[in-house]
Amino acid sequence: MARKTFPIYPQNMTPVNVDSFPIFRRVFRISEEYAAKPLNILSHNNSISALEYELRILRLAYQAGVHVPRPDRIYQVTLPLHNEGENINTLALVMEYIEGLRLIEMLESRHPQYDTASAAFDAEKQNALDLGFEPNDCHHHNAIWNRERGLYLIDLREWRKK
Ligand SMILES: Nc1ncnc2c1ncn2[C@@H]1O[C@H](COP(=O)(O)OP(=O)(O)OP(=O)(O)O)[C@@H](O)[C@H]1O
Ligand SMILES: [Mg+2]
Repeated sequence: MARKTFPIYPQNMTPVNVDSFPIFRRVFRISEEYAAKPLNILSHNNSISALEYELRILRLAYQAGVHVPRPDRIYQVTLPLHNEGENINTLALVMEYIEGLRLIEMLESRHPQYDTASAAFDAEKQNALDLGFEPNDCHHHNAIWNRERGLYLIDLREWRKK
């Protein structure tokens, strides 16, 4: 009989091909349902208020009906942020985990659904504008295509509410 295997969390979701990506700035899947975006502890932009701002704007966008991950709240989580095998406690924005591919990955791999996903991205960005947001830094790196549930905009750190 085949043994059921269980996923091991946290899983680092930062694309491995981004060489310049600072190791301390990564988003982790921490369970079946949740992702955690930790405080940027080593950069200048390291205040809790930056994380709270992102939570606040994510809540506003979610409540207004923009297709973004459902926000939860800020928690203290334990993540392997620095070196292999070394965990640290840090504050993190916890939100719904969105299964899928980033648009940039779909483009690079010539995914057959790229055109559909890209059109959905344009429409969702327009939806955000119509609902009174300035969706800054909103590009193919910050969008996830889920086959069943459609296109999600992520990484609202630079967004503003008009
Ligand atoms: N809710 C989520 N569900 C699934 N994957 C996610 C989620 N949030 C982020 N990711 C993954 O983690 C990557 C990094 O997340 P995000 O774009 O929010 O942060 P960033 O670009 O590293 O940070 P910054 O806020 O500094 O721009 C994303 O490109 C995506 O692959
Ligand atoms: Mg991003």
